[in-house]
Amino acid sequence: MGLVGPGFVGAHHIDAVRRLGFVDVVAIAASSDASARRKADALGVPRAYGSFEALIADPDVHVVHNTTPNYLHVPVILAALGRGKHVISDKPLAITAADARMLLDAATRAGVVHAVTFNYRGNPLVQQAREMIAAGELGPVHFVHGAYLQDWLLEATDFSWRLEPDKGGESSAVGDIGSHWCDLAQHVTGQRIVEVLADLTTVVETRLKPSAASVDAFARSGDAAREPVQVRSEDLATILLRFDGGAKGTVSIGQVCAGHKNGLWFEANGRRASLRWEQEKQNELWIGRRDAANSVLAKDPSLLAPGARRYAHLPGGHQEGWADAFCNVMRDIYGVIAAGHGPGGAHPPAFATFEDGYHSACIVDAILDSHRRGAVWTRVGEAVTA
Ligand SMILES: NC(=O)c1ccc[n+]([C@@H]2O[C@H](COP(=O)([O-])OP(=O)(O)OC[C@H]3O[C@@H](n4cnc5c(N)ncnc54)[C@H](O)[C@@H]3O)[C@@H](O)[C@H]2O)c1
Repeated sequence: MGLVGPGFVGAHHIDAVRRLGFVDVVAIAASSDASARRKADALGVPRAYGSFEALIADPDVHVVHNTTPNYLHVPVILAALGRGKHVISDKPLAITAADARMLLDAATRAGVVHAVTFNYRGNPLVQQAREMIAAGELGPVHFVHGAYLQDWLLEATDFSWRLEPDKGGESSAVGDIGSHWCDLAQHVTGQRIVEVLADLTTVVETRLKPSAASVDAFARSGDAAREPVQVRSEDLATILLRFDGGAKGTVSIGQVCAGHKNGLWFEANGRRASLRWEQEKQNELWIGRRDAANSVLAKDPSLLAPGARRYAHLPGGHQEGWADAFCNVMRDIYGVIAAGHGPGGAHPPAFATFEDGYHSACIVDAILDSHRRGAVWTRVGEAVTA
């Protein structure tokens, strides 16, 4: 594999792929020869390229991982597809639904494997929740709710390319982390979000942007010289949801919520039982009942449903975490690539495709459109792209 964009999440793609044991990490590409060499040395990768075109032209690269800032997803992915390479892109697939659709169509025409890393699907207890709902253990699900809250953009001195519409897209927090929550809620419940009503807010309207060309995500930029910039994209969102299976939902998304580091949680309430999973306590699944005691299922392969068991690699009491779930996603994707199945056919559950990435982009577009029109119900897939 070769990876374009070796920043925060790129290093975790490389780590996860290495743990599979049958994939060679051949090259990385960064924005200059010098930074590519520096990152390649730090990550122990043999070849370093100063442009993504050069990496994609390398005949030893069969799978291209895209972990660039959002605005580069279209050119990087199109270049990889143009050379018939499999593509594993981080989310969001693209910054508009129209672009995401174009990438889905191009990948389908290219006949390659295409994937988007919605990595929370790789958690064993997420798969357990999905199995329980599919088996009817909760009964019909009528309410799906939760939040994805972080605090790393709370201060005016916190900055990321995510806040610049030409790099991150018109949406910031919703596209960045709301996309994860929506994919997860749909994946677990088996119901698709079809209508949204959104109220978006920019809490920190003026930020002090460091003049340093590139600060990796979540890195504090220290004493760098700064210039004030006006921010228009949202850092806080409250959204009502309607699902195609009849469930109603709500989700709160924010990156300005002190004390919340990676606070993703969801709850599903059915006619017979409820369940809740919290990313920061990811080895536990809460199960709520009316006529019996509530319980907490601890991650333990021997207690999981058969479909969820293979996502747990350690016995009960041995905690598994974010990077393990990421590796599970790569195992599902590379299993399909290695088997030579191509893009069609059934995929293992932790493998999200460009189709999932496209649907996710439609939800983000609908959320933006709902807010723009004064918080009105908006159908997903019918949003007007600004
Ligand atoms: N799945 C997840 O949980 C998760 C987590 C974080 C980020 N992401 C996604 O991954 C992508 C990258 O995010 P990040 O947080 O790692 O950002 P980052 O800023 O830390 O890293 C981006 C990297 O891309 C490099 N880059 C910039 N221009 C380039 C070019 N022209 N060619 C090659 N490389 C270039 C930058 O130098 C940097 O190293 C985004 O799309 C983001 O939404 C996903």
